Amino acid sequence: MSPGRIPSGIAGPTRSRTYVVSATITIETGVTVSETLANLMQEDRSFPPSEAFTTAANAKPGLHEEAEVDWLGWWERNAKERVTWFKEPSIVLDDSNAPFFKWFSDGELNVSYNCLDRHVEAGGGDKIAFHWVGEPGDGRTITYADLLAEVGQFANGLKSLGVGKGDRVAIYMGMVPELAVALLACARIGAVHSVVFGGFSADSLADRINDASCTAVITQDGAWRRGKVVDLKGAADEAVAKTTSVEHMVVVRRTENDVDMVNGRDIWWHDLIEGQSTECAPEVMNAEDLLFILYTSGTTGKPKGIVHTQGGYLTGVTTTSHYVFDYKDDDIYWCTADIGWITGHSYIVYGPLANHVTSVMYEGAPNFPDNDRLWQVVEDLGVTIFYTAPTAIRAFMKWGDEYVERHDLGTLRMLGTVGEPINPEAWMWYHEKIGGGTCPIVDTWWQTETGGIMITPLPGAVATKPGSATIPFPGVKPDVVDDRGESVPLGGGGFLAIRRPWPSMLRTVYGDDQRYLDTYWSKFENMYFAGDGAKRDEDGYFWLLGRVDDIMLVSGHNISTTEVESALVSHEAVAEAAVVGRKDEVTGQAIAAFVTLIGNTEGTPELLQELRNHVAGALGPIAKPASIVFTPDLPKTRSGKIMRRLLKDISEERQLGDVTTLANADIVADIASQAATSTTDE
Ligand code: WTA
Repeated sequence: MSPGRIPSGIAGPTRSRTYVVSATITIETGVTVSETLANLMQEDRSFPPSEAFTTAANAKPGLHEEAEVDWLGWWERNAKERVTWFKEPSIVLDDSNAPFFKWFSDGELNVSYNCLDRHVEAGGGDKIAFHWVGEPGDGRTITYADLLAEVGQFANGLKSLGVGKGDRVAIYMGMVPELAVALLACARIGAVHSVVFGGFSADSLADRINDASCTAVITQDGAWRRGKVVDLKGAADEAVAKTTSVEHMVVVRRTENDVDMVNGRDIWWHDLIEGQSTECAPEVMNAEDLLFILYTSGTTGKPKGIVHTQGGYLTGVTTTSHYVFDYKDDDIYWCTADIGWITGHSYIVYGPLANHVTSVMYEGAPNFPDNDRLWQVVEDLGVTIFYTAPTAIRAFMKWGDEYVERHDLGTLRMLGTVGEPINPEAWMWYHEKIGGGTCPIVDTWWQTETGGIMITPLPGAVATKPGSATIPFPGVKPDVVDDRGESVPLGGGGFLAIRRPWPSMLRTVYGDDQRYLDTYWSKFENMYFAGDGAKRDEDGYFWLLGRVDDIMLVSGHNISTTEVESALVSHEAVAEAAVVGRKDEVTGQAIAAFVTLIGNTEGTPELLQELRNHVAGALGPIAKPASIVFTPDLPKTRSGKIMRRLLKDISEERQLGDVTTLANADIVADIASQAATSTTDE
């Protein structure tokens, strides 16, 4: 069977139209909103931190309470202790033009100075900033002193091209050290970077260049991905042909494929830095000057250019990094994200570097040359802290434990996840197989818009529960509210909203203040609308339930995709699952499930029935999927999030929407042909 093919004859043959559980449930076909979100899943496992971890942890019990006493004072303290200012701010929060909040607005600083110079000046120049691991097997070790010199040199190179304070620079690269250098060099000279993930198409790049009128593009000849060259320069050329603002393109030589260099516009990185001094005085920036724009990878509509500024962002990411990742001087920290996403900006570049941490940066695919590549790196470099995404964890589970068991992962002391709700079963697998049953797991909820982590355990201070992001970071005040913006009592579900501003929050949508107001501040009064569903348990722990757009309405009950998916994943044969609400005349919506099995498990009709019953047993009959399609893969965005909208189109037999933004577009047609045979009524 070729990868991406669905084995024939195993589609879900049954669909019950009338499995409404009890007479007391009103069937309200066509209702689109109900007040709260059903709380179906119960999870009783809890993992308190070990005494040894607590004793040594950066976050001591009591920190949350301390921040709550005076939340503005807490942020002010962190801003002053963790950030080096050229001019200390006297203002903490300016809310005179809310929700266009300003933080530390009379402060002056330089973010690259905070990430580099101050460590070198304090004698920490020899510490390794990055262990860079190239996909083909090459690598580099880069100290803080090296990085400072490279950033200075490249910053001078950019200046020689006329790039200066306030100019927008598009960065379209793979995970090479020059990518981190490029971000820091922009920050150094006050240019605004707009990183576009190297897996995006030429058109996506062109749209983003145009939206911000970027004057320079930094790219590379090609990027390594699964042993093949991705032609970044070719795509960048195609993109720039659709723009009018770009004057310069800087090209890193990495894969040595042939590229066209346009005379007068293009210059090789190595030629640009040749003869440039390694010293470049950091530009003095106001706290509220733009640091970067990052377009959200939303599944619909025109991408939004999320704007982040200097002082609040740095305060947020440096504080969260310190407490959530619990950095110690000898840690080797690895965040496996791509710098093209917010996770890479905040927790590969700015947060760790501001904390003088040693990080791993890996160029390539997790399954090249084999499925154990990441564990090989953990073993080789002695990684102690490992931060990844649930989609990756579920892939590791699917590949099978033998790849993990090949390596000694004994140096790991802490694990983290971000990007999607983590199913309790995947959490337990991560805990046992990767963490050896001893590493605390930080399940961190946040967004491109929030800039930094918002809901998370602090290892050492907070007991974890598999599948829960636990409690807010000190000073942050999220809530679960109903349609009217009123708090839902503990035990209930609803919309996740944030009741207080926070320093690393987005400032606006680039060039579109109205969209900022409409998207985030108009659903509820004086509250930030996150777009996620959530519930809180009796202990006040937050459980993220997926995007509210995905919530299903079955027989008048709002049911979250996450809970049904987690129930499916809790079956031993299931690696990954996605569910959507498909229109149904009787129940309003019926639950359509798409399931990927572990290893070589065969998707038989018996297993299908077993899974339906398994969900009914775990969550109640209301959540029993009406249909299940087995598929070797699920459609994902390029940042690894399941794209439920497409599965909904398939389930409702609609013309499929745009699939070009998918990481694995081929799978969609396969699933569609399979689903067509899976919806016969019982
Ligand atoms: C989802 C990534 C559950 C959520 C940093 C959010 C999560 C969106 C978690 C933002 C988590 C992120 N548990 N869901 N720990 N972390 N999400 O902008 O839906 O790429 O709104 O930022 O990812 O995705 P973004």
